[in-house]
Amino acid sequence: MSQPTIESILHERRVFTPPADFAQQAHIKSLDEYQQLYDRAKANPAKFWEELAIKELHWFEKWHTVLDWQPPNARWFDGGKINISYNCLDRHLTTWRKNKAALIWEGEPGDSRTLTYAQLHREVCQFANALKHLGVQKGDVVGVYMPMIPEAAIAMLACARIGAAHTVVFGGFSAEALRDRLNDGNAKLIITADGGWRKDAIVPLKEQVDKALADGAAPTVQHVLVVERTKQGVTMEPGRDHWWHEVQPTVSAHCPAEPMDSEDMLFILYTSGSTGKPKGVVHTTGGYNLYTHITTKWVFDLQETDVYWCTADVGWITGHSYIVYGPLSNGATTLMYEGAPRASNPGCFWDVVEKYGVTVFYTAPTAIRAFIKMGDQHPQARDLSSLRLLGTVGEPINPESWMWYQKVIGGDRCPIVDTWWQTETGGHMITSLPGAVPTKPGSATLPFPGILADVVDLEGNPVSDHEGGYLVVRHPWPGMMRTVYGDPDRFRRTYWEHIAPVDGQSLYFAGDGARKDEDGYFWIMGRVDDVISVSGHRLGTMEIESALVSHPAVAEAAVVGRPDDLKGEEVVAFVTLEGAIAPSDDLIKTLKQHVVTEIGALARPGEIRFSDALPKTRSGKIMRRLLRAIAAGEDVSGDTSTLEDRSVLDKLRTGG
Ligand code: PRX
Repeated sequence: MSQPTIESILHERRVFTPPADFAQQAHIKSLDEYQQLYDRAKANPAKFWEELAIKELHWFEKWHTVLDWQPPNARWFDGGKINISYNCLDRHLTTWRKNKAALIWEGEPGDSRTLTYAQLHREVCQFANALKHLGVQKGDVVGVYMPMIPEAAIAMLACARIGAAHTVVFGGFSAEALRDRLNDGNAKLIITADGGWRKDAIVPLKEQVDKALADGAAPTVQHVLVVERTKQGVTMEPGRDHWWHEVQPTVSAHCPAEPMDSEDMLFILYTSGSTGKPKGVVHTTGGYNLYTHITTKWVFDLQETDVYWCTADVGWITGHSYIVYGPLSNGATTLMYEGAPRASNPGCFWDVVEKYGVTVFYTAPTAIRAFIKMGDQHPQARDLSSLRLLGTVGEPINPESWMWYQKVIGGDRCPIVDTWWQTETGGHMITSLPGAVPTKPGSATLPFPGILADVVDLEGNPVSDHEGGYLVVRHPWPGMMRTVYGDPDRFRRTYWEHIAPVDGQSLYFAGDGARKDEDGYFWIMGRVDDVISVSGHRLGTMEIESALVSHPAVAEAAVVGRPDDLKGEEVVAFVTLEGAIAPSDDLIKTLKQHVVTEIGALARPGEIRFSDALPKTRSGKIMRRLLRAIAAGEDVSGDTSTLEDRSVLDKLRTGG
C-alpha cells in the first residue's frame, strides 16, 4: 500500500459522520458545538485559554498575564505557579481516583505491572528524592535514556516534581547521538536501564551510556541512575553509577511538588531539522500542561472508565504528551507497552487490547501499514470489541489504510482521529473531535479550537481551495515550543521568518505543505524541507549526510527519501568516495553500519549508491529534487536546466 498521492486524496470523497451514540456521550457533541468553541476561541483567545486554565488545572498561584506575545516569544500564564507532576498525581489522590489504575504496563516478554495513582505518586516521590540525593536541583537538566518501562514515566514526573528539566533521548539512538544531546543540554545526570526488550532482543542501554560518557566526553554528567530491567549484567562505575533499586529503600516517599513558574522549562526534546544539528525544542510548564490536558480530553474524548493506549515511545513527543502528561493530568488510565509487533508475535498489539479491554487506541500510519501486511487474521482472532475510538499520528495516512483501520480494527464502529501536530507544537493542532467533526479518510480535518491554522504562499497570502501551500499558524497557543535550547536565533529563523509577516504578524511555519478543501478541511502533504520520515521517525537528511562524510572513505554525500510502502520513506544515500578508494559491497555495509553508529538504527540507509560526482546547480548546490526523482526511479531527463554537468546525471541514472 503506497503513500498518499495528490491524485489519491484529490479524489477522496468519502465522509463519515460521528456515530450518534458516540456523539451523545462525548465532551464535544456536535459540529455546531465545535464551531461555537472555535469561534469563541478565535474571537478572544486569551479569555478562552484562561477559562480552561482555571477550570482544568491546579495552580499554586494565579498568573498576572494570560499571554505576553512579543513575536516569536510567547509567555503564557505569566506569574502563575504550577507543577505538572502535582496535576498528574497529587490532585487525584483526594478523589476516588487514588486507587484507580494510573499506569498499566505490559512488558515484551509478557511480564506486567499496574500502578494506581497512589502507587505512582509514591514511586515518583521516591525517585525525585533519589535525584535530589544525587545532587540534582531545580533548574538542572537530566537525561533520560530508557526502555518503555514504568520507570521512564516515573523519571519524567520525578524531574518535573523537583523542577529539573528532562531531556529524553529515544533508546534507539546511538551512543554518539546520546552524547551530543547530553552535551547540548548540559545534562547533570542520566537515568537509564541495564537494557530494554525490543523485538525479542535486549537493547543494551547502559552499555551505550558508558560509551557516550567514556573518556570524559560528556563532562557535565556526574551520575548515572540505573533501573534494573533485563539483568544481563552491566558494569557499574563506582561513585558515578547507582542502581535505582539500591537507592530506593534509602530515600523518603515524601516529596512535595516544587511550585514552578508557569514559564519554567519543563523539558528539552531534540528533533531533526533541515540542518545537520538536531534542535533542542524547549517546552515550558503551565502552557504545555494545559494544552496537553485539554487536547487529550477532547480529542480522545476521555471518559473516566477508558483504558487508553498510545503505542508511541516516550522518547518522542507523542510519548511525552499522550502517554504521560496529557492522560495523567486527566486522571486517566494510560497503558504502556514495551514491545513492538514482530515476526514471533504479529498479533501482540491485539493481545494487549484484548487483555486490558483497551478503549482508545492511538498509533502511527507506519504501524497500520505493517498490520495490513501481516494479515487480517491477527486482529480477527482477538476480541477488539472494547475499542471505541482510534487515532493516528506521525505521517499522512493513505485513505485505503484509513479504511482498513476503521473496518478491521474499529469494526466500523469507532471514529478515527487523524491528528496533525509536531514536537514543536506540544500537542494536537489539526484533528477531528470525534463526537463532533465528520471525518474524511486521509484528512486531519479541522483545527483544534484556539488554533488559527491556514495554508498560505511564501508571501503569507492564503491560497485558494485545493491549491497546495505552506501550513502555518497565525496566533500563539499555550503548548507551542518556546525556543531552541541555547539558540534563540535559530528558533526565530527556523519557524518565524520563512513566511513573510502579514500585517506585522509573524506566522509560525514548521515545514509542512498542505491544502484545504471547500469544507475547510486540511490535507497534509508532508514536509517541504529536507526532513524525511522513516517509519514515522523524523530525520534530517543533513544529519545523515554529516554522519556519512565523517567516515574517512567518503568525500561527499547527499541523502534523500524514497517512497516506501511500509516505512513511508526510506533513506537513499548518494556517495562520492575519496581519491583512490573503490566502491564495493563491503564498503556499502561499512557505511550503513557507520550511520547506525553515528545516529542509530532508525537512520540506516536502505540503499547507498556510489557516484563520481553529485548533480549540482551552477552555484554549487546539490540538486536534491533531482536525486529524489532518481532514487524513486522517475524520468528526470527533461528537468535539468540548471544542472552543471549533464554527464553526472547519466551516470547516476545508470547507477554508475
Ligand atoms: O510532517 C508532519 C508529520 O510529522 C511531523 C512532525 O514530526 P514530529 O515532530 O516527530 O512529531 C510527530 C508526532 C506529532 C509533521 O511536521 N505529521 C505528524 N502528524 C501527522 C503528520 N503528517 C500528516 N498527518 C498527520 N496526522
